[in-house]
Amino acid sequence: MGNQVCTMFGLDAPIFAFSHCRDVVVEASRAGGMGVLGTAGFTPEELEIELNWIDRHVHGKPYGLDLLMPVSYETVRLKPGQPTSALLPDQQVAFVDELLTRHGVPAMPVEESETLRRATLNRFTITPTQHVQILDIAFRHPIKLLVCSLGTPSAETVARARTAGMKLAGLVGSPEHACRQREAGVDLIIAQGSEAGGHTGQISTMVLTPQVVDLVAPMPVLAAGGIASGRQMLAAMALGAAGVWCGSVWLASPQSDAPPEVKQRILSARSSETIVSRSYSGKNSRVLKSAWTDAWAAVDAPPTLPMPLQSLLVKEAMARAQKVRSEPLATYPAGQVIGQITSEISVRQIYHDMILEFADQLEKLHKKYS
Ligand SMILES: Cc1cc2nc3c(=O)[nH]c(=O)nc-3n(C[C@H](O)[C@H](O)[C@H](O)COP(=O)(O)O)c2cc1C
Repeated sequence: MGNQVCTMFGLDAPIFAFSHCRDVVVEASRAGGMGVLGTAGFTPEELEIELNWIDRHVHGKPYGLDLLMPVSYETVRLKPGQPTSALLPDQQVAFVDELLTRHGVPAMPVEESETLRRATLNRFTITPTQHVQILDIAFRHPIKLLVCSLGTPSAETVARARTAGMKLAGLVGSPEHACRQREAGVDLIIAQGSEAGGHTGQISTMVLTPQVVDLVAPMPVLAAGGIASGRQMLAAMALGAAGVWCGSVWLASPQSDAPPEVKQRILSARSSETIVSRSYSGKNSRVLKSAWTDAWAAVDAPPTLPMPLQSLLVKEAMARAQKVRSEPLATYPAGQVIGQITSEISVRQIYHDMILEFADQLEKLHKKYS
């Protein structure tokens, strides 16, 4: 199944697997595609551990790293000795407490909450200074692809990636963003449609992909959002994509470290059970619809907090809810394709099935229309 993107990275199939979970990344790369680790959620020290583990297990296969580069976010400054509660307005804290109490979720001891909030802040590597820390680590590993999402890479990042022999990709939700990424100097574009899990724009994959393909040609484009089968992959290629970038399809696999109640919901949810909400990160992202997203969507709900402060509320609330395995509150980034995920299938098997269905459907179409 070789093409331009396969040649660029030495892949058997142009299927890219985004995940925050190292097991998914390694399995995807070993299955002949390319695993890409999301750095959001790791301190620089934790990331170093993850990358060392990947290097030991990936058998020399190519893998990538994804970095959040948001254009806007709240600059967080805590004075020495100041608790994180100083960052959070009383109105939103009281709103969350009331919601969790209503669902029978016990409070978290103050010390545990403080530790968790600080860890969450340290794991939010979104500022240029934090990017340098992350990249200093990344450049010590044999990473083949650096993906920049929510914003463009700086000239320095592009130059450092080039020196390290890495390719750069920009993940975009609109043609305008694709132009900005191209001007910044990336080598490929990931066009992510609105049905995708995680931060998302308003244009569907079906509409966005051909526009971006035409706009940035001959630069290769990966299609993302709503792709979890060989038929969907074939459709993406028909739209001009050189490969596919998938995130939700791995969530229920045994390699995924999503919490058990999230996996359970993914397996049982219909496509209509995701929603675009600011309540998960402070920016619009598609997540599992839940009692959490419903509450923040109510007319009397307070406004969500800007990134990264909303995450302080979310991580603590989800940690509290997980202790009592609260399925109604379980909120997690997930795309509309979860409606077609009904059993726990390994990453390797998903690759196998996608490639087989792609080839089979291609042949059927060929017979039907030639
Ligand atoms: C659980 C989850 C977390 C995500 N986190 C990020 C992230 O940190 N950075 C990023 O660039 N994309 C993130 N995404 C979006 C994916 O990179 C990808 O574009 C998207 O999942 C593709 O659409 P799909 O969900 O329909 O497969 C996330 C997606 C999911 C499902």
